[in-house]
Amino acid sequence: AEAHIGLIGLGTMGSALALNIAEKGFPIAVWNRTTEVTHRFRAEADELADRILPCDTLAALVAAIAPPRAIILMVPAGQAVDDQIAALAPFLGPDDLVIDAGNANFHDTNRRDAAGLPFRFLGMGVSGGEEGARHGPAIMGGGARADWDRVAPVLTAIAAKAEDGTPCADWMGEAGAGHFVKAVHNGIEYADMQMIAEVYGILRDGLGMPAEDIAGVFRGWNEGVLKSYLIEISGEVAAAVDPVSGGPMLDVILDSAGQKGTGRWTAVEAQHLGTPIPVIEAAVMARNASARRAERAAGEARFGPGPRRVEGMTTETLEQALIAGKILCYAQGFGMIAAASTAFGWSLDMAAIARVWRAGCIIRSAMLNDMAAALAEDPARNLILAPGFAAMLEETVPALRQVVAAGALNGLALPALSAGLAWFDTMRTARGTANMIQAQRDFFGAHGFQRVDGLDRPHGPWGKA
Ligand code: 6PG
Repeated sequence: AEAHIGLIGLGTMGSALALNIAEKGFPIAVWNRTTEVTHRFRAEADELADRILPCDTLAALVAAIAPPRAIILMVPAGQAVDDQIAALAPFLGPDDLVIDAGNANFHDTNRRDAAGLPFRFLGMGVSGGEEGARHGPAIMGGGARADWDRVAPVLTAIAAKAEDGTPCADWMGEAGAGHFVKAVHNGIEYADMQMIAEVYGILRDGLGMPAEDIAGVFRGWNEGVLKSYLIEISGEVAAAVDPVSGGPMLDVILDSAGQKGTGRWTAVEAQHLGTPIPVIEAAVMARNASARRAERAAGEARFGPGPRRVEGMTTETLEQALIAGKILCYAQGFGMIAAASTAFGWSLDMAAIARVWRAGCIIRSAMLNDMAAALAEDPARNLILAPGFAAMLEETVPALRQVVAAGALNGLALPALSAGLAWFDTMRTARGTANMIQAQRDFFGAHGFQRVDGLDRPHGPWGKA
C-alpha cells in the first residue's frame, strides 16, 4: 500500500482530479471500469506518472491505498454510484472512507448517508468543469465533520485559492449538505447564464449589434462590478469565429440548451421548501422552452416575432440591469440555503458558502467577495438588505426596470430578469395583495384568515363560514 488516496472513474472530471491530486504530491491509486483507460491514463500522465498507481481490479485498488483508506468516486450520478458502492463494500472496512464527488442529487446522498454503509461516506460537490478539476475546483463537502477533516489536507491542496489565499474547499454540513450547496450553485449557474443570454438577446436583436461588438461589451463588463468567469467566457464565446462558415461561432449554434438536471433539482427543492427562487426557476423554464424549437417556430409564424428593436438603450443600462439581476438572484439562492439549513437542521454557514464560491467554480465572481463579507456580518439578513447591496440595488434597479419594460414592449423574452424585478417589487411591498387570496380561500373553502386589527373574527361575511 503506497497510495495516499484512491480514485474510481477516469472520465473527464475524474482524470483531471486525479492529475491535480498527483501534482500536489499525493500518490494516487486509480481504477476504471475499462482497464485500458486506466493504463492509458497513466501513460499520458507524463511527469506525474510515478505518483499514479493504475489498478486492474477493485481489490488491487483497495490494496494499493494506505489504511484507513479514502477513495473518491467520480462516476455518473445516480445508479452508477449505488453500483460502485455495492461493488466496493466487500473490500472496505468501517474506517475506510468513500467520497462521492459526482453531481449527486442530495436526497440520494442523504439516503446513502443513512443507509448504514459498511464504511464511512462523504458527499462532495465539485465545481469548475474540467479546467477547475485539473487546476483548482471549488469543493463543497457533506457528511461527518471528522471524515471531512481526515481528507481536508488533500482537498484544500487541490482546491482553487481565493484572492486572499483561502482554499475554496470547505465542509458544508452533515449528510447531503455538500451536494445540496452544489445544487444551489448550479441553480445560480443556470440563472447567471440565462441573464447573460437575455442581455445578449437585447444586444443582438434589440440593438442589432454584431457578435464581435457584443464580445467587446462583455469584455468591458468583465473589468467592472460584473467581473466573473461567466462574463469572461461569454466575451470569448461571442468573439469566436466558426471555422466552417467564417462567421461568428454563436450564429451557427442551435438555440436549444441541454441540461443534466441539477438546476431543475434546485427549482423542485425550492418548491418543497417554500422558498422563492424565481430567477433560477425562470432559467430552468427557459432551458425547457429552448428545447421546443418547432413549437417556437410555429408561434413565431402565427404571431410574428415582435418588433424586437429597442431604441435608446445604452450598454451601461444593460450592465446595471445585469448587476441588479445578479444581486437579486444570489439573494434568492442564499435565501434558499437559509431555508434548507433550518428545514434540514444543517446549520449551514452562509458566509463560508459564499467564500467557497469565490474561486474555482463556474459562478466565481468579484461580487462574491462582498457577498461573503455581507453574510459574515449578518447571515440571517436577506442579502438585498445588506447596506452595500441595498445601495447597489437603489442605483441599478431603475436600469433593470427600463430593460424589462423595453423587453415587454418590444417582444423580447426576458424571463429571468423580469422574474428578478417582480421579486424585488414583491419584497419591497409591505402590504401586498394576498389578502385577496385569503378572502377567496375563505369564500370557497372556509379556510379562515387573520385580520389586520387582530380581532378574532376569522371568516368573512360571505355566508360560507
Ligand atoms: C460545475 C458545473 C457542472 C455541471 C455542468 C453541466 O459547477 O462545474 O455545474 O458540475 O455538470 O455545468 O450542467 P448542465 O448539464 O445541467 O447544464
